[in-house]
Amino acid sequence: MTVLRVDATIQGDRSASSELADVVLDHLVAAHPDAPVVRRHLGRDPLPADAWAAAVAAGATPEAERTDLQRQGLATAHQVAGELQEASSVVLAMPLYNWGVSQHVKTWVDLAIAGAPYGARLLEGTPTVLVTTRGGAYGEGTPRHGWDHNTDYLRRVLAEVWGADLTVIERELTLAGVNPAMDAFIEAGALLHKQAREAAAEAGAALAARRAA
Ligand SMILES: Cc1cc2nc3c(=O)[nH]c(=O)nc-3n(C[C@H](O)[C@H](O)[C@H](O)COP(=O)(O)O)c2cc1C
Repeated sequence: MTVLRVDATIQGDRSASSELADVVLDHLVAAHPDAPVVRRHLGRDPLPADAWAAAVAAGATPEAERTDLQRQGLATAHQVAGELQEASSVVLAMPLYNWGVSQHVKTWVDLAIAGAPYGARLLEGTPTVLVTTRGGAYGEGTPRHGWDHNTDYLRRVLAEVWGADLTVIERELTLAGVNPAMDAFIEAGALLHKQAREAAAEAGAALAARRAA
């Protein structure tokens, strides 16, 4: 059974979400060096934007009449769904962009749903760590409270639709120290960074223990 790692940053090596996912995965791999890790980087190698519609259309088209695009779309959908079903541990790094779930992640979710029987619980009981990072702050009392349309969407899909045993690690204020307009929050941001790294280490150790059990 594999470890599935999916990243979605569009910021390459500067990624705050990948940094935390590395902490989680490092703990898991240190305890289980032979565990096969399947990686998908949705930001660096996006899934084709037209694959989902093609996969859905393929499902309504007799096999012999499917176009090449529909066949490819369905094959990609089966692959994405299969990676989830075959995983016994999952580590996801999916940041907030433009107040929502990134188009790359949405395409991945849509393809996974299209690639499995309707209502399939692709991660039933699978220990899954979702890391998500945000440049600003969205807690109660902040001006943008309610504007994070990424985290709750992912919780719903991963835990409620797919049945994952989900741990969420969040880091806010990642732009403090990057965007001068947020200089007042540098200290608070540093503390959140430290806390998120600690939470990631704890989640990695828990994943490793679950894999051993
Ligand atoms: C194109 C773009 C859009 C962003 N939109 C938001 C946003 O809507 N709200 C926010 O708090 N931060 C936003 N950010 C900041 C990111 O959430 C922040 O940089 C986070 O750490 C991204 O994770 P990453 O470093 O793994 O890419 C945005 C960043 C980029 C590059």
